[in-house]
Amino acid sequence: MRENPSTSVPLWQQLQVVAQALAQVRRGVSGTAALEAVPAALRPGAQALLFQALRQLGRAQALRAQLAARAPAPLPDALLCTALALAWDPDNAPYEPHTLVNQAVEAAKNTRSLQMQASFLNACLRRFLREREALVKATDSDVHAQWNHPEWWVKRVQQDHPDHWQAILHSNNQAAPMTLRVNTSRISREALQRDWLNHGLTSYPVGEQGLVLEQAHPVRDIPGFAEGLCSVQDAAAQCAAQLLLKGLAPHTQALRVLDACAAPGGKTAHLRELLNEASDVIALDIDPQRCERIVQNLQRIGRQATVIAADAAQTKSWWDGQLFDAILLDAPCTASGIVRRHPDVRWLRREADIDKLAAIQKNLLKQLWPLVKPGGRLLYCTCSVFSAEGEKQAKTFVEHNTNARLLPSLGHLRPQNRATPPALADNLSGDHDGFYFALLEKLPAP
Ligand SMILES: C[S@@+](CC[C@H](N)C(=O)[O-])C[C@H]1O[C@@H](n2cnc3c(N)ncnc32)[C@H](O)[C@@H]1O
Repeated sequence: MRENPSTSVPLWQQLQVVAQALAQVRRGVSGTAALEAVPAALRPGAQALLFQALRQLGRAQALRAQLAARAPAPLPDALLCTALALAWDPDNAPYEPHTLVNQAVEAAKNTRSLQMQASFLNACLRRFLREREALVKATDSDVHAQWNHPEWWVKRVQQDHPDHWQAILHSNNQAAPMTLRVNTSRISREALQRDWLNHGLTSYPVGEQGLVLEQAHPVRDIPGFAEGLCSVQDAAAQCAAQLLLKGLAPHTQALRVLDACAAPGGKTAHLRELLNEASDVIALDIDPQRCERIVQNLQRIGRQATVIAADAAQTKSWWDGQLFDAILLDAPCTASGIVRRHPDVRWLRREADIDKLAAIQKNLLKQLWPLVKPGGRLLYCTCSVFSAEGEKQAKTFVEHNTNARLLPSLGHLRPQNRATPPALADNLSGDHDGFYFALLEKLPAP
């Protein structure tokens, strides 16, 4: 048997909760919400297995279609697909395939609503073990099985990134590491890295302020986290505050900065770390509960901002009439760039969501642009790889706003893992999520 993330809990019990969580994700519930219902003792192990199952769900569904012409009811189907997703590739299976099959059948026998299907599941999974190679081969040409993404998603990435679509989909199916941003206003990256090493935590640098842990750890065990010396944030997301403030002398100038879609406050905290005390930061979010997370994040780093729960597009409801030197618009999006960290996203989204979200982004840009001072700037970003939410959005905006100029920006960053060096120099180096950045300068009135 290979590594067991939660050794004290029998595997069948973990598979039971993973199948329940998977059935919920298939009903449209987010993976995070589905895991909240799992007892705390089971959660870390269940999360690891659920995430792995979600990364292989396309293959599992194609295999299930080979084994059972008609899909079983949602819960037995979720248990069957969980076992297939985890067991189909013995080189990457978290346990021996036979163990997974035995334990999946045990999970069915121990779940009241699944007991009637236990022998059906047993028959399907035993056949899978006997005929694995042929069954896998028969699913190889299926796009879902090959890429573990919905077909529309694969087509969209092909269309938007003709030279890199395979690399993007491949990265999406890898697990992301734990990356932290060092609060360099209080400690150097090298000093914190040494301190971590003294506590047995090895890491390597990424970007200007990031450290990637070789092994993920609970944040409470990371030296300096509670004191605000570091924050969990992917290396691509760390570029937002740096790019927005580049050239604005944030350490010396008193700037007025708006973070328009701020919760849970990762980028607000970063802005606050880079700006001097005399600067004003206003952090808005439409969701009052998520606004509380902004406040907690700022408390941990010991800095302040004015946090307002409001719709950023309804400027009359919250704006005091004073223009901003800099606005960060980290707009709501499909999250298609952070699939490594949220493997449920690809199965939850619908293609129509892209246009709906692009319309919201367009309106936010339109409403917030008049609030930028002449000579000031707005950074538009999304954690998406779809160009409708990135390049196309920014291009259309500049075409329709003659007082907007696109400054040197990062454009589309493609998600990539440490082992995959960038194929072209236009991607950041190192391990990071997919993102889009357009830095727009407001030209002074003629
Ligand atoms: C991508 S997340 C922001 C992440 C955040 N910038 C960070 O780094 O932690 C987008 C946020 O936009 C918020 N949002 C969506 N529509 C909004 C609106 N019209 N006005 C303000 N916030 C909005 C959502 O509640 C969500 O918290």
